[in-house]
Amino acid sequence: MLLIALLITLLTPTISSGGDDSSSNDQSQIPSRIVHTKYGAVSGTIVQLESLNRNLGPVEVFKGIPYASPPIGSLRFMPPVTGALWPGVKKADRFSAVCPQRLPDISNETEALERMPKGRYEYLKRLLPYLQNQSEDCLYLNIYAPIQAGSRGDSSGNGNANPVKYPVMVFVHGESYEWNSGNAYDGSALASYGQILVVTINYRLGILGFLNANVDRYSKSPANYGLMDILAALHWIQENIEAFGGDNKSVTLAGHGSGAACVHFLIASQAVPDSLLFHRAILMSGTGLAPWSLVGDPAYYAAIVAHHVNCSVDLPHQALMKCLRDVSLKSLLSTPVRVPDFGNAFGPSVDGVVIDTGDFSQQDPYDFGSLSGSDTKRQMHYQNNLNIINSVLLRKLAINKLSRYDLLVGVTRAESYFIFNAGDVQYGIESDRKTKILRNYVRSTYSYHLNEILATIENEYKDWEKPVQHPINIRDETLEALSDAQVVAPATLTVDLHSADHRNSFLYVFDYQTKFGDYPQRQGCIHGEDLPYFFGAPLVGGLSHFAKNFTKAEILLSEIVMNYWSNFVRTGNPNEQQDNRDRKAKNIEWTPYENVHKKYLNIDTKPKLKNHYRAHRLSFWLNLIPDLHKPGNDDVPLSHHELENDDVVDQSKSTVKPLIPQRDKGANGTSPNSTVLFSSPIFNYTLQRSNNRNNSGSHNAQINSNLSGGKTKSNVPGIDHDMYDENATSGPPTEDGFAAYSTALSVTIAIGCSLLILNVLIFAGVYYQRDKTRLNEPRTIKKRNENGQMPNNICGDLETLTIHSKSDPATILGHHHSLHQLPPP
Ligand SMILES: *[C@@H]1O[C@H](CO)[C@@H](O)[C@H](O)[C@H]1NC(C)=O
Ligand SMILES: *[C@@H]1O[C@H](CO)[C@@H](O)[C@H](O)[C@H]1NC(C)=O
Ligand SMILES: *[C@@H]1O[C@H](CO)[C@@H](O)[C@H](O)[C@H]1NC(C)=O
Ligand SMILES: *[C@@H]1O[C@H](CO)[C@@H](O)[C@H](O)[C@H]1NC(C)=O
Ligand SMILES: *[C@@H]1O[C@H](CO)[C@@H](O)[C@H](O)[C@H]1NC(C)=O
Ligand SMILES: *[C@@H]1O[C@H](CO)[C@@H](O)[C@H](O)[C@H]1NC(C)=O
Ligand SMILES: *[C@@H]1O[C@H](CO)[C@@H](O)[C@H](O)[C@H]1NC(C)=O
Ligand SMILES: *[C@@H]1O[C@H](CO)[C@@H](O)[C@H](O)[C@H]1NC(C)=O
Ligand SMILES: *[C@@H]1O[C@H](CO)[C@@H](O)[C@H](O)[C@H]1NC(C)=O
Ligand SMILES: *[C@@H]1O[C@H](CO)[C@@H](O)[C@H](O)[C@H]1NC(C)=O
Ligand SMILES: *[C@@H]1O[C@H](CO)[C@@H](O)[C@H](O)[C@H]1NC(C)=O
Repeated sequence: MLLIALLITLLTPTISSGGDDSSSNDQSQIPSRIVHTKYGAVSGTIVQLESLNRNLGPVEVFKGIPYASPPIGSLRFMPPVTGALWPGVKKADRFSAVCPQRLPDISNETEALERMPKGRYEYLKRLLPYLQNQSEDCLYLNIYAPIQAGSRGDSSGNGNANPVKYPVMVFVHGESYEWNSGNAYDGSALASYGQILVVTINYRLGILGFLNANVDRYSKSPANYGLMDILAALHWIQENIEAFGGDNKSVTLAGHGSGAACVHFLIASQAVPDSLLFHRAILMSGTGLAPWSLVGDPAYYAAIVAHHVNCSVDLPHQALMKCLRDVSLKSLLSTPVRVPDFGNAFGPSVDGVVIDTGDFSQQDPYDFGSLSGSDTKRQMHYQNNLNIINSVLLRKLAINKLSRYDLLVGVTRAESYFIFNAGDVQYGIESDRKTKILRNYVRSTYSYHLNEILATIENEYKDWEKPVQHPINIRDETLEALSDAQVVAPATLTVDLHSADHRNSFLYVFDYQTKFGDYPQRQGCIHGEDLPYFFGAPLVGGLSHFAKNFTKAEILLSEIVMNYWSNFVRTGNPNEQQDNRDRKAKNIEWTPYENVHKKYLNIDTKPKLKNHYRAHRLSFWLNLIPDLHKPGNDDVPLSHHELENDDVVDQSKSTVKPLIPQRDKGANGTSPNSTVLFSSPIFNYTLQRSNNRNNSGSHNAQINSNLSGGKTKSNVPGIDHDMYDENATSGPPTEDGFAAYSTALSVTIAIGCSLLILNVLIFAGVYYQRDKTRLNEPRTIKKRNENGQMPNNICGDLETLTIHSKSDPATILGHHHSLHQLPPP
């Protein structure tokens, strides 16, 4: 307290001069010290935590600090651009707006409960108020720092000769690729208890964050704007966190759910320099290997958006993007998109820059099958989400990159609970509904032998000892099957891969269900129920949108969890206790995961080390199913792969389907007759399958320059891909269509502009060098307006910004990153 008082006396004059009283909604806020970032000075607030039974030190909270230029106007659908300098002291005492998003509709409770469990509804009712204030100008982060950070009175007195530096944890929020915000997650209790810096970030979501109208993976035009935002935030943290008392050499990237998938993709990305931007990763309840993590068919959804906002789908890519930049946000967001049941319409997708597959045709195709040692000679001929994910994340390169980081991975007991509605939760489900759900899952996830896969799953997840099943049990079996398939198996595969090369792999299973939480006590911990413990909500009687009512045991559990987590953030090992802190909780030793014993921590009020979590069931998903899921011989008719008696399939077949193999268009990657996985010239063509997949060989696809047929996509994403038939050469493209397509391609992205921006933000290695050379020079950044807007001619500006660093951007990129091939003239 003395320290705070001191700080206040020191700082008050400066603060009061700059600030008007805008703290109307909060109780009287104590301003923090002023921190000088590279972009300007900020002052936050000091928050005194009211802990029930713990003595938690106060934290400094900085809300709404910009980490990149607002992605508006010409910067919409562009990689994030370094922020502008601001004058004076910015008051960082309120959250920024969240990124534009369409929230789940819970306005009518009756209707909502037909789609979601009651507990989920209650949870959303608390969460959604945080997401109401939306704006495209949303690239902001929030920092929660232990009070002493950077301005230690005890250890370093007046000089900052050797100030204590706190490790940094960056939280990437989950829930969905299309909505939510970091603002809702209050890191103050974790920062105070764990003595770490907690940073929560907003990144672009949905259409604005992930629209990918790429027609070709060789074009290398960036599309994962949301992921690049996360990179930009990490970059900002490297540059500035030291001023807040953080250690930029010890940064942990923690993601939950879809956020964890984002983290995984960043780890595996070639655009991210190894261990420069972050050093450890925590994947909670999600990984990139999950079948839902990637949008395999982004161009289809991009076409729907373009169509909706009256941007001609005939436009070449660059002009189309320009058109999309000019339409109003409202029309963009009002695009009617039907989100596939077990996937996403907008989310990370292959763009060849942040997420790429390498040269797939050259690389050994790595699939689940070869994990178990069996040889996989078959080529993957079909575009299938799983195949794409595997070729992105299971490449040697990606696995090598994974092993550069310390990794902590975990799941909860009931991950897929939200597919049920209130009635299912209360009364259970009948077995035909179980079949329907599983059938839907199989259809949207797999491409081959669907009948066999479905039958196997049903057989596996059935209690054969009971002749008559209770609906509740049937519901539980379904829940288990989907949780295993969608989250648990991918998570264990991830630690399997990681632990093969790296010592610090840790796996946990969160198995404690909150007593007075949102959900009935039966299933065990539901997806997301672990987060309050991680953020320390029980210690302070509830934080932000988390439930408020916790028991004593739960408080203790939260301490245990925060201990492990903050130790991991500090050292890469959850066990290394920080010295001499009076911790009530004595944590048991959490042995690293390795392939022999497969030890994991079962987190309950009394955590226990166990081994081989769900070994049989996971082997089912990691060995048997991938073995089944192989194309089979060429003489297997395609119709065999489809589900029998599939009522859904018999509807309209038309689909905005790309998939015209590309041939020699400058990038010599593929020979004409090799199969191309990622060809997707969407815009000019609507492929219509003439008929249902009637007979195998003749998949007549028609080229049709009319999108209207595509509005009604059959909801069978998995199977749509098998339009690709084994005889790739026998494909539809006529000579004419192909010529038109090549033309479209030759206009790739605004190459100069984007490459330069990329150069600035993504390829941090280059960037850092540039920074060094820049130190003594007048900053070009100053050209920007003070309010953070870029001047109109951003390319010009960036050119000057980059060129004085090193000769020619193309050479730099070519050198650092042999990704970019300039398009043919
Ligand atoms: C929404 O956010 C903006 C930008 O931070 C802020 O100026 C505005 O006051 C906020 N509106 C509400 C209702 O909170
Ligand atoms: C909610 O939806 C139900 C079913 O559609 C409808 O009967 C009811 O009137 C709606 N309630 C309100 C308040 O709109
Ligand atoms: C990390 O912080 C130190 C100290 O502020 C700074 O000198 C260094 O440049 C930072 N590293 C990066 C990559 O910005
Ligand atoms: C697109 O054009 C149609 C017909 O001209 C119009 O009704 C509709 O409002 C337009 N949509 C947008 C987003 O401008
Ligand atoms: C917590 O929940 C229990 C059981 O519902 C209730 O008895 C108790 O009053 C609640 N406490 C608070 C503070 O809400
Ligand atoms: C593409 O292939 C042709 C012939 O195989 C070759 O002449 C040309 O140099 C190649 N272009 C590139 C960019 O590799
Ligand atoms: C492509 O097809 C030609 C003839 O159709 C064949 O000679 C050549 O070997 C094939 N190339 C590859 C890579 O399969
Ligand atoms: C399949 O094609 C055959 C002949 O082309 C036709 O007789 C049959 O009705 C078709 N089946 C379906 C389900 O369309
Ligand atoms: C592939 O093409 C060959 C030769 O054109 C043909 O014999 C074979 O039936 C085709 N296979 C399929 C599945 O269409
Ligand atoms: C698109 O198709 C619809 C119906 O299939 C047709 O009415 C319309 O004229 C077509 N538009 C173009 C531009 O071909
Ligand atoms: C798209 O197709 C139309 C008609 O088929 C053609 O006139 C136009 O040039 C094509 N656009 C591109 C970019 O190829």
